[in-house]
Amino acid sequence: MALKLTSSLSFQSQKYPCFGVPPSTSKTNLRSSKIVMASTLPSNVVGDVKKTFSPKHDVHVQVTHSMPPQKVEIFKNLDGWADTNLLTLLKPVEKSWQPQDFLPDSASEGFNEQLLELRKRSKELPDEYFVVLVGDMITEEALPTYQTMLNTLDGVRDETGASPTSWAIWTRAWTAEENRHGDLLNKYLYLSGRVDMRQIEKTIQYLIGSGMDPRTENNPYLGFIYTSFQERATFISHGNTARLAKEHGDLKLAQICGTIAADEKRHETAYTKIVEKLYEIDPDGTILAFEDMMKKKISMPAHLMTDGEDDNLFDNFSAVAQRLGVYTAKDYADILEFLVGRWNVEKLTGLSGEGRRAQDYVCRLPARIRKLEERAQARAKEGPKKPFSWIFGREVRL
Ligand SMILES: [Fe+2]
Ligand SMILES: [Fe+2]
Repeated sequence: MALKLTSSLSFQSQKYPCFGVPPSTSKTNLRSSKIVMASTLPSNVVGDVKKTFSPKHDVHVQVTHSMPPQKVEIFKNLDGWADTNLLTLLKPVEKSWQPQDFLPDSASEGFNEQLLELRKRSKELPDEYFVVLVGDMITEEALPTYQTMLNTLDGVRDETGASPTSWAIWTRAWTAEENRHGDLLNKYLYLSGRVDMRQIEKTIQYLIGSGMDPRTENNPYLGFIYTSFQERATFISHGNTARLAKEHGDLKLAQICGTIAADEKRHETAYTKIVEKLYEIDPDGTILAFEDMMKKKISMPAHLMTDGEDDNLFDNFSAVAQRLGVYTAKDYADILEFLVGRWNVEKLTGLSGEGRRAQDYVCRLPARIRKLEERAQARAKEGPKKPFSWIFGREVRL
């Protein structure tokens, strides 16, 4: 395992964790205490650009290539399997929905009327809802980062940009499907007239420039456990923004969020299938990877988000999402429990002693997280109000 320590400076994490456990008072019990800054250059040569896109939040010790090189063969040998089991889960482009199917048609005579209807419907949605929807949209818009992340993974990366392997085709086609999510939400929000698009666009630029720190170590075992978790997390959160839009009477927006959620579900099916296959081939290696990812906590893809003004923007957005029930600490525990069941982790046999300990750890973890969360909820006080530049500086309770 190659361990690249980019700086020896370590310090305590800030107020909220940059992990995927949504902000709640349980955070102090669920996070590691030490983190390391990513920057290595002496301060006199650190230029403005580097400063801008160096994480203002904590990033971890950067570990690379942790999968033993001989295991690359597992993935090379699975290329045929990926052909029949992954590529079949993609939807043909001609049968796929496109953002335009849900938006006023700017080439039609009825455009103005359709636009007025959209704006009338969106008037019923509260500011706090827009904060969450904008945060979800920005998360989707940082898609270049997620494609990069998949292409860091040893044995499955797209080596050329047009590689004919099934793994590479999957990654490109997955990206192409996902690309519609940010496009659709972005255009809807623009047309709604309810949000400050310039601030949102700045946030997207900052976020893509900052990247992400998923701690997947170029290791496809870790990478596909991460994506299994994340696709389910986005399925849940888009499903909840659909439910809330419906409650506020915007049925068209409910349909938009529900349609995106259905894509996330299909992608979850694909990534959980890969991990299921890894359990079949290498149960010990896979359970240890699952334990490793859960001990590190799943960091949310947009955790390095800023609008250039609020360095705690991601935590503030997450706190609103938690309060509205769009994505909560309970969801985190539910996803974990779902994955334990999906991969039959409790019934795994033939494990080493270390593997059995990892099995025990992940099987007990959902109950542990829930217990901590219940205690945290009992202690929780009403959050403060914070301004969000995305809605012209208006304040929303966290
Ligand atoms: Fe998505
Ligand atoms: Fe997704």
